[in-house]
Amino acid sequence: MFAQGVDLRAASSLDSHDRPLPALAERVRDVADSTTLVMSARAKAMKAAGVDVINLTAGEPDFPTPRPIVDAALAFLEAGQVKYTPTLGLPELRAAAARRYAETYGVALAADNAIFGCGGKHVLYTAFQALCGDGDEVLIPSPYWVSYPEMARLSSARPVIVPTAQSGYVLDPDALRAAITPRSRVLVLNSPSNPTGLRLPLATLTELMRIAIEHNLWVFSDEIYDQLCYDAEPYVSPIALGKGAVERTVVVNSLSKTYSMTGWRIGYAIGPAAVIEAMGRVQAHETSNPCTISQVAALEALTGDQTTTAAMRERFDARRRLMLDWVRRLPGWICPEPQGAFYVFPRVDSIYGRRSPGGRWLQGSLDVALALMEEAHVATVPGVAFGEDACLRLSYATSRALIDEGMRRVAAWLEQLQPSS
Ligand SMILES: Cc1ncc(COP(=O)(O)O)c(C=O)c1O
Repeated sequence: MFAQGVDLRAASSLDSHDRPLPALAERVRDVADSTTLVMSARAKAMKAAGVDVINLTAGEPDFPTPRPIVDAALAFLEAGQVKYTPTLGLPELRAAAARRYAETYGVALAADNAIFGCGGKHVLYTAFQALCGDGDEVLIPSPYWVSYPEMARLSSARPVIVPTAQSGYVLDPDALRAAITPRSRVLVLNSPSNPTGLRLPLATLTELMRIAIEHNLWVFSDEIYDQLCYDAEPYVSPIALGKGAVERTVVVNSLSKTYSMTGWRIGYAIGPAAVIEAMGRVQAHETSNPCTISQVAALEALTGDQTTTAAMRERFDARRRLMLDWVRRLPGWICPEPQGAFYVFPRVDSIYGRRSPGGRWLQGSLDVALALMEEAHVATVPGVAFGEDACLRLSYATSRALIDEGMRRVAAWLEQLQPSS
């Protein structure tokens, strides 16, 4: 064996004689896979094998990234100066994100209140690393986006799940109060929610922030779907609610959903300068900086023409109404009307205890999702992945024709369910 002219024959005889390798880090052993990614990967694999699967798992817009954003990235690439940037992002990009929030909510924010990372997911992870530690408790309303509990665990904190099913899937301030202990450190809010699509009413948000101030909690406000709201109520971030809210809130946002830029991996946080600086110190050792090309594209997205986002929102709204129409006609499925994002989250537990047309005993949402995938060739995400086993998540980030065909299959599959055994 030779490497660059060096004779490695003596070294290549190294052998560990089948002794066990060192264990994985304890921190990682309990971390769950992302069920959403697993289900969509399974759907893609079935498709690749020639099965006509309708994929209703999508967590991303099906539209292309708007042309001016692509052009800005291409021009930058052509100029040939793709180098590192400052760790927290290009100063003009940080200023643009801060300006957007400052102008929308009338609060004083500058570039040092913003940090860019490799998508909202990464920014949120960095916030957990910067603000949580051993024994801290993170309050997470359920159903929740799949990554919150795992990110809390990865920062050595303990996720404390606060159920919301009893209060119409909107966090009840009394339930939050009851879950708070002296170890509580962070409250995670996500409006509109993935998976329910529901928004927090302003009065509830105000009450939740009052509690956060009373108990001195950090608040992570995941606003990744703030531009995808379909009702008339303007979006309100907690940072609009006064100094006590601004000084403890880390807003997480992203270019992924608003500008159909999921693959560019670029997102940001807005927060108190000291927190942003601390996140920067973590990021310095994680990624140095997010992809420079994506930052240039993000600058065009945030400062350029916003009409494509508005057009995308209109198309999503039409699909939302189509999907809701279908779901509400399905016997026993109960679905609150989502006001944002691109998901419906119906309760489907009325069919638990029955057998699927293919003979699978339906005992929970995973059985329903697997049976729908294998028998009706429709991919969905089981509610158990979001901490709510009574429900199923269906995405309408796909064409009207595919929504129609997918839901026609679901309806036909439901008609063939076998009676309870
Ligand atoms: C609620 C929520 N937060 C954060 C993210 C992260 O998105 P990204 O990392 O693409 O910005 C997602 C993506 O699905 C999401 O649904």
